Amino acid sequence: MRNYYIAGNWKMHKTRAEAAELAKALAAGLKDGKHKYLVAPSFTLLETVAPIVRGTNIRLGAQNMAEAEEGANTGEVSVLQLKDLGVQTVILGHSERRHNYHEDDALINKKVRLALQHGLEVILCVGELLSDREAGKAETVCETQTVEGLKGVPAADLSRVVIAYEPVWAIGTGKTATPEDADAIHAYIRTVIGKLYGGDEAARIIIQYGGSVKPENAKDLMAKENIDGALVGGAALKVETFTPIAKFA
Ligand code: 13P
Repeated sequence: MRNYYIAGNWKMHKTRAEAAELAKALAAGLKDGKHKYLVAPSFTLLETVAPIVRGTNIRLGAQNMAEAEEGANTGEVSVLQLKDLGVQTVILGHSERRHNYHEDDALINKKVRLALQHGLEVILCVGELLSDREAGKAETVCETQTVEGLKGVPAADLSRVVIAYEPVWAIGTGKTATPEDADAIHAYIRTVIGKLYGGDEAARIIIQYGGSVKPENAKDLMAKENIDGALVGGAALKVETFTPIAKFA
């Protein structure tokens, strides 16, 4: 049985004081939560949030990392630096990284492999643009991003990989994929994992949905067979909206 995994991507929001306040409220609010949880604050907030979530049922995540361990990479943050702060998980291949900062599958794959080599959990984001969907290419885009993102990842490391399906047209737009549309892509991604790693891994891998997840739609999305959790953006910024998603009945 797959456990639900609800993650909050705080994106480029909050000061240290605001982050501490939210993290404390979530630690208290989710104490009796039954699922797996994560918050991913900006790099500058990690040191503030780390001691608040340590020892709780909330994991500490980063939103990106460099493809190299160290070196002349101005403006980047390395896996060693993240681990030093207690980061357990890294979100890679987010559509904002792919489309606004031009990260391609090869670069994302380097990051995925490096993070896994260092023992981190990876949330690999995949998802199609509206133009892809309108051209009937949603499945092939997600397949390519999954296959290329996982290239060279050994089966032994796959237990530390989570896939997040985030249709780009649903992110921050208030437009959610219908549970049926999302479930269909999740099922397809599962078959892709099956082709790469076999049926057991396909049945086991956690696939989160992301894109305008709110307290009002979380339950219907999570009810779908292939949707195992959520990667939440806007609604992750307030305890009043993240907690009901995290504790969907
Ligand atoms: P929203 O929930 O704001 O649509 O963002 C989704 C997302 O990109 C999470 O990574």
